[in-house]
Amino acid sequence: MNLSVVGAGHVGLVTGACFAQMGHRVICVDNDAKRIARLKRNVMPYYEPGLEALVRKHAKSGRLRFSARLVDGVRFGEVIFIAVGTPPKANGEADLTYVEGVCRDIARAMTSYRIIVEKSTVPVETGKWLRRTIAMNLKTKVPFDVASNPEFLREGTGVHDFLNPDRIVIGVESDAARKKLLQVYQPLKAPTVVTDIASAELIKHASNSFLAAKISFINAVAQVCDRVGADVEKVAEGMGLDRRIGKFFLDAGIGFGGFCLPKDIEAFIHIADKLGVDFRLLKEVARINEEQRAILVKKIEERLWNLKQKTIAVWGLSFKPHTDDMRLAPSIDVIGRLSAAGAKVRAYDPEAMGEARRCLNGTVFCSDPYRAAKGSDCLVLLTEWPQFQKVDWKKVHRMMEHPIVVDGRNFLDAAVVRRHGFEYVGMGQGRP
Ligand code: UDX
Repeated sequence: MNLSVVGAGHVGLVTGACFAQMGHRVICVDNDAKRIARLKRNVMPYYEPGLEALVRKHAKSGRLRFSARLVDGVRFGEVIFIAVGTPPKANGEADLTYVEGVCRDIARAMTSYRIIVEKSTVPVETGKWLRRTIAMNLKTKVPFDVASNPEFLREGTGVHDFLNPDRIVIGVESDAARKKLLQVYQPLKAPTVVTDIASAELIKHASNSFLAAKISFINAVAQVCDRVGADVEKVAEGMGLDRRIGKFFLDAGIGFGGFCLPKDIEAFIHIADKLGVDFRLLKEVARINEEQRAILVKKIEERLWNLKQKTIAVWGLSFKPHTDDMRLAPSIDVIGRLSAAGAKVRAYDPEAMGEARRCLNGTVFCSDPYRAAKGSDCLVLLTEWPQFQKVDWKKVHRMMEHPIVVDGRNFLDAAVVRRHGFEYVGMGQGRP
């Protein structure tokens, strides 16, 4: 099929490349002409494992093209996926001006039947607005359908997630749209939920909010564990074996970050409020998440007393491993708190240092984990990059002023670290 994807960001670009891999012909459109020019030279706008290889492969196969002109996308694809950003406004509400703008411009350029699909995460009832905006802006009477097809890929494993989804969700209001979208995803052979548009929109916000709730739940349990000498990892293991609970998203630590979970729960709280539902549970999920960062800093203070003039080494800055994404990364909050208390921060991240330089002032960026550890009073792990498990602990010990490790992700092997003479502190491992 001929498909168009509007927006070459974290969702749009992976979607475009994966559609090409599934055998479709795709055009990816973005109004950032520089980004498009770079993509035409196979230069990726962000780090995502496997993405560059796919883009190169299908630039060659001719199945993936790029354009900075929306009209090219409107002409080419029988189905047009909107994957532009829906950033949060100051009050947490999703800002849908990009979605509206794209949808208006699509309508103005449309000359024959098209299906316009929301791929970005949007609040319930956006489909209704899409339909209205398109109808208001058509130049001539052209038939069209709108649909919702939320994307569940995770950053860092986006390509794999897209091609191996747990489920595909399709929200439609016509038989023609249903048939076409089923045809688009037919190569993936994944369980598919076909529903109305509002339900599809809700599946996305409800899923991300539920995942966030799972994380905050285990983090609250971790707080209890710290007070009674219990081990949250064992508690999570014991809980997770119950198939009704499941073992995923029960990793306690400094909480969730990134541009999806934090912003989606805020947007869901906001839309629920607007509809007259006070989603207090989600407000608490967000509060517990914030609390985790304060708890981590408190753990450091418990070991170092005053933080003024102390040197803290930070390993890992991105909001999770295998991405360079710093958006709403817990590290920003944690480093902000450490700096406010007068500590000097020396940081290292395998991929996110470029992005981090833009949002972390006063931090010393180091070229490897050992240099970050040099002269530090405490080492804090904030992102679970696999290479941190393989460091030479003897060397780290030599570099540090005081051998204290605070593991914000319960990621390091505590026994190994302790064996090398460190004081090791995790989250919810029975030590405040
Ligand atoms: C999330 C959803 O998982 C995905 O389905 C949706 O499409 C986009 O939002 P993403 O933000 O890429 O994906 O990352 P995810 O793997 O969900 O992690 C989110 C945050 O939660 C990270 O900061 C991670 O470190 C944290 N997390 C995750 C925990 O603290 N504990 C866990 O058990 C799992």
